[in-house]
Amino acid sequence: MDSVIVQASPSLALVKYWGKQQVGKNIPATSSLGVTLDRLVTTTSIECTTGQDSVTIDGVDYRDAKVMGYLSFLKNELQLKDRFIIDSSNNFPGASGLASSSSGNAALALGLSQFSKKELTQQQLSRLAQVGSGSAARSVFGGFTTMKAGSDYAEQLYSADFWPDLRIIVCAISTEKKEISSGDAMNHVRDSSVFYKSWLESSKDLFRAGLLALKNRNLELLGSVMQRSYKQMVATMLGADPPILYWLPQSIELVHFCHSLRRRGIGAWETMDAGPQVKILCLASELSAITSALANYLDENQIIVAKPGNAPILLRQSEFQVNAVS
Ligand code: DP6
Repeated sequence: MDSVIVQASPSLALVKYWGKQQVGKNIPATSSLGVTLDRLVTTTSIECTTGQDSVTIDGVDYRDAKVMGYLSFLKNELQLKDRFIIDSSNNFPGASGLASSSSGNAALALGLSQFSKKELTQQQLSRLAQVGSGSAARSVFGGFTTMKAGSDYAEQLYSADFWPDLRIIVCAISTEKKEISSGDAMNHVRDSSVFYKSWLESSKDLFRAGLLALKNRNLELLGSVMQRSYKQMVATMLGADPPILYWLPQSIELVHFCHSLRRRGIGAWETMDAGPQVKILCLASELSAITSALANYLDENQIIVAKPGNAPILLRQSEFQVNAVS
């Protein structure tokens, strides 16, 4: 049977996309700066079937309206008449705030595009991925990426080897599925948060400052921008009605842990997203000091050390009897 397997990694936002100018296509209201993480991987296999379309994520049937709507959008854009069995698995906890929607939707867009006769550029692929999830537009690229406010695609800024000694420690605090998706949370924040307007305003400066810090590979500067970006994003959630709070007690504990390391001169810069997980940026030279201190808080299997990773890859492509509409 005709099939394809693709792997993609999540995009961690250093400066956050939080808010949509246009909901259906996930056009961002703020410009974001992302890094693709090498050790976290979504593997998606897609095969043609004579039966119905099906989607499984981490072994669970996922035929919900959002996923099926995105699938039919992709099939329409790629002019595919086939039906597909799609099976996706993450080597990290999915739907818990570790950006599985970015890697999952990027993998799906790349995988399905292989069944079409169209040769897509990365920019076109990014456009398709963004409709699945805003952050997926960034996951189409490796290294460091931007997705500008109002844009319907992301771009690569630097490749993965731009900053070889950068490390990202992913602290998987919880494997629980989050109660409210990032997309729903963003819309709720836009509609009800007393801080939303000022967030949109201040995120412009954060993006500019983030670009400069990254260009100079200045972790201290980048870390301070990251701090403001994620904490202001969280503030918009706290200012919503009703408020949203993703943090768990251990999230706060790790925020204080990073603060205290920095007071001791160790550059551990945390960021968080729409979930309880904490991600810590540091330099390779300080990695072991940070991970050994982290062992007081987390089990070994909750700590994943990543580097900037590459663009999605195609693992296998069997012969296609493409049934594309010409
Ligand atoms: C906090 O890309 O998951 O991780 O576009 O609605 O699918 P949708 O949202 P999603 O949101 C990501 C939000 C974030 C910040 C970021 O990745 O920039």
